[in-house]
Amino acid sequence: MLTLNEVKNHPGIKACIKKTEQYLDYLGYTDHGPRHINVVSDRAKSLAKNIGLSEREQELTAIAGYCHDMGNFLQRTDHCYTGAILFSQFFINDYKDSKDVSDILEIMQAIANHDEHKFEIINKIGAILVLADKSDVHRNRVKNKTPENIKKDIHDRVNYSVMDSVFKINKQKKEIILKLTIDTEITGVMEYFEIFNERMIFCRKAAEFLDCHFVLVINNFKLS
Ligand SMILES: [Fe+2]
Ligand SMILES: [Fe+2]
Repeated sequence: MLTLNEVKNHPGIKACIKKTEQYLDYLGYTDHGPRHINVVSDRAKSLAKNIGLSEREQELTAIAGYCHDMGNFLQRTDHCYTGAILFSQFFINDYKDSKDVSDILEIMQAIANHDEHKFEIINKIGAILVLADKSDVHRNRVKNKTPENIKKDIHDRVNYSVMDSVFKINKQKKEIILKLTIDTEITGVMEYFEIFNERMIFCRKAAEFLDCHFVLVINNFKLS
């Protein structure tokens, strides 16, 4: 059975992640490297555990979280598809004659559907990946923290304004909660929604797929 440890130590995966980080740094994007993918992988695994998925499913969500952005070095557009195909190329031959091949296919489906422009949630791993990925908004993702850049780049400005981000689940109420603390001197809540509205809708739909409710709290104000 494929494990997160095996995936993390695969030379091809390591190379794709490194190349992606270099390419997106060159484009001036927020962090999509080791920090982001480890946050997403950890959040995904923890959410899978808390909603009662099996240990095997928890491991698959952690792998999908770790690998979801590795196709970005080819091009931002359609990175979810290229990432899914790349992932299969590294592992499918080892599992093609085994029943575990379905694990590879499920991870591919999750990676291929994590982008808000082309999404379709078709399995629990995919729904969890969406929530873990789209909830990672934090100032630590901003690479260029100069005042001039923060002023001119809305994505960097909104991410930089998020001083604290807590992602958790209330099992009794079946709520998946994203709690953000935003410095409103840097950006207003409206500006947050200007770029993240689509992502938050995506999170709501993913939570519904898991039979839960997505709750967004900004500066202690419950918005959904
Ligand atoms: Fe992505
Ligand atoms: Fe991502």
